[in-house]
Amino acid sequence: MKTRRMFGFLSFYGLAVLFLSTLCTQSWATDLTTWIASQNISSQALMLANISRPGTGLGSVVAAPAQGVNPDYYYHWVRDSGLTMQAVVGLYDRATGSTKDQYFQILSDFVNFSSYIQQNPNLSGNPWDTGIGEPKFNVDGSDYNQAWGRPQSDGPAIRASAMIQFANLLLDQGQIAYVQQKLYSPTLPATTLIKADLEYISHHWQDPSFDLWEEVEGTHFYTRMVQRRALVEGAEFATQMGDPDAAAFYSAQAQQILGQLSNHWSPQENYLVETINQTGGHNNKISDIDSAAVLGALHGTIALHDQASYTSDDALFGVTDDRVLLTALRLKQIFQSLYTINQSGGPNVAPGIGRYPEDTYNGTDTSSQGNPWFLTTFAFAESYYKIANAYENSGSIPVTQAFVSWFTDVAGNSSISLTIGETIQSSDFRFSGILSTIRIGGDKFLARCQLHADPSGALSEEFNRNTGFMQGAANLTWSHASFLTAIWARGN
Ligand code: NOJ
Ligand code: NOJ
Repeated sequence: MKTRRMFGFLSFYGLAVLFLSTLCTQSWATDLTTWIASQNISSQALMLANISRPGTGLGSVVAAPAQGVNPDYYYHWVRDSGLTMQAVVGLYDRATGSTKDQYFQILSDFVNFSSYIQQNPNLSGNPWDTGIGEPKFNVDGSDYNQAWGRPQSDGPAIRASAMIQFANLLLDQGQIAYVQQKLYSPTLPATTLIKADLEYISHHWQDPSFDLWEEVEGTHFYTRMVQRRALVEGAEFATQMGDPDAAAFYSAQAQQILGQLSNHWSPQENYLVETINQTGGHNNKISDIDSAAVLGALHGTIALHDQASYTSDDALFGVTDDRVLLTALRLKQIFQSLYTINQSGGPNVAPGIGRYPEDTYNGTDTSSQGNPWFLTTFAFAESYYKIANAYENSGSIPVTQAFVSWFTDVAGNSSISLTIGETIQSSDFRFSGILSTIRIGGDKFLARCQLHADPSGALSEEFNRNTGFMQGAANLTWSHASFLTAIWARGN
């Protein structure tokens, strides 16, 4: 009896899911292009609404806007706010006239708020020193003094890269005085935002820290990737700012980090492992495979001001690196079978992507099961677009074994034939077909998010692995920022 009822429920449930997903992907759903256009407006507005909210410090960014709820994300996280500012710099770059002035104001408020929080001692340590690794602050800029996974060393690196990008745009417009006064002066101890972050990263990258998910203490691929990026960009920037000795030191440290990144490659597993040399925190990540590998390749992509100064090292561990492709493929396969919702959606919808398979955080507590997240699923879309863009810019595709495995999954049963070892040039008739197949592959991750997003444009942190409904922090700032950077890579 019990079994029959169960079965009855399951098949009804299964049918309902099938029915809904058929409706959603066929007749009800707005087409993807239309959704992108409306989500673009919503995500910009909802992201900006989380900066300098009434009652918070000017320039602070709340991770999510609800107060007095579980989870309580009403804090200024250095990582989340740094990634948000990378998106705001993108908006500033694209804007003109008075809109551009408004984005300048937001960025300069952020500069002031961030410089303020750099100046106080906190539970991670002293100002201008290890205190820079403090992960989150109260919204008025005061210290958060409860127990937390600290330090987290990715945040200052992400912030430094965002601010170097901003500074370069200002220098292009001749605004040297502002950059010297607020962002970079060679003076030590550092009193300017970027300089203080670069000093912290270059002197403390070897120290164990908590990972981007704030759970595990040790050495992390993601953290190392963003640290190396900040130091490579920082070295170029320090040279421009007349600080050549610091530039040499930053580049030497970046080189050492690059030397250690290959320790995250596991030849046995054939994927990048996220944490090595664990010193504390949760112990449940048995496989150590983590979407942070794809996020690290994206957020760690080096963006130099002078195109001519790129070296071949700069592309290592980027989105087209064989090791990143193989890790992304494995993650996609794992999440495909792990989450019930990924069994439906149809051929034009890719799986929702979570943080890591053993995750037990459901958006409010760690007592159950992890779910797919918007920011990781958008990151997969963004990485596909960036892979296609990279091949387009270089005009050739090196057909490695890893590329063939990864592309075969992207293409499904497409008829493009590839031979391991060949290089496909842009003149080859297959070239444009491969690029468009990859871009369509990216669109399928956007389509997955579209399916679970609220039609109003609201995006939470995650969507339930069984029901598909959004859960966890509502209107997570980072969810919106990651949508924007994904569609920019798509060419929108
Ligand atoms: C809150 C953190 O932000 C989240 O990443 C983590 O999974 C949970 N706490 C449990 O540690
Ligand atoms: C939990 C996430 O794991 C972490 O990366 C993030 O910083 C916080 N939530 C705040 O959004």
